[in-house]
Amino acid sequence: MALQIGDTAPDFEADTTIGRIRFHEWLGDSWGVLFSHPKDFTPVCTTELGYTEKLRPEFEKRNVKVIGLSVDSVADHERWSDDIEATQGARPRFPLIGDADRKVATLYGMLHPKASTTLTVRSVFFIDPAKTIRAMITYPASTGRNFDEILRVIDSLQLTDQYKVATPVNWRPGEEVIIAPSVTNEEARELFPQGWNEQRPYLRTVKLSS
Ligand code: BEZ
Repeated sequence: MALQIGDTAPDFEADTTIGRIRFHEWLGDSWGVLFSHPKDFTPVCTTELGYTEKLRPEFEKRNVKVIGLSVDSVADHERWSDDIEATQGARPRFPLIGDADRKVATLYGMLHPKASTTLTVRSVFFIDPAKTIRAMITYPASTGRNFDEILRVIDSLQLTDQYKVATPVNWRPGEEVIIAPSVTNEEARELFPQGWNEQRPYLRTVKLSS
């Protein structure tokens, strides 16, 4: 069965551009973002990987380790990284998994045969420190991902772990959030002494102080 939110992220051992890793051990106590790339030496992936490296401080700030996968060898990843550095101005220093035998891609359901029998789709798995899959995004090969959205999802997951809230449409950090429907008004008075805006009993928005 396909992986779902709430499943434990499957562990694996693989060769990567930083050497051989055991995935769970490598993640340690960090959050993880595992994302797939259809193939080395392809244009959209080249832009994504350069951009991801430029976002390194943003991922570090959020205690997130990033790891990419492409269904080619580590030696190819290294040669491709030269091109990424030359064209995007940043060489990926996060690991890229060599998955020429498609073992990890298959484990994570990154191959969608109706899209391609040989190349992965663009999957993103958001994994928390307990190794639980918390969110997934899937794009076709022809659509480059929006990495602002990837950071936004991490911010939402980390915030909603901390407070009994949900984040509304197009939410950005610092904006008002929604009090979780499971929270009674009595509980809300304790949790959110700053008060909230009740547009409907089920739609209560609050500005968090931090
Ligand atoms: C790309 O990364 O540019 C790409 C890869 C496979 C199919 C289409 C585009």
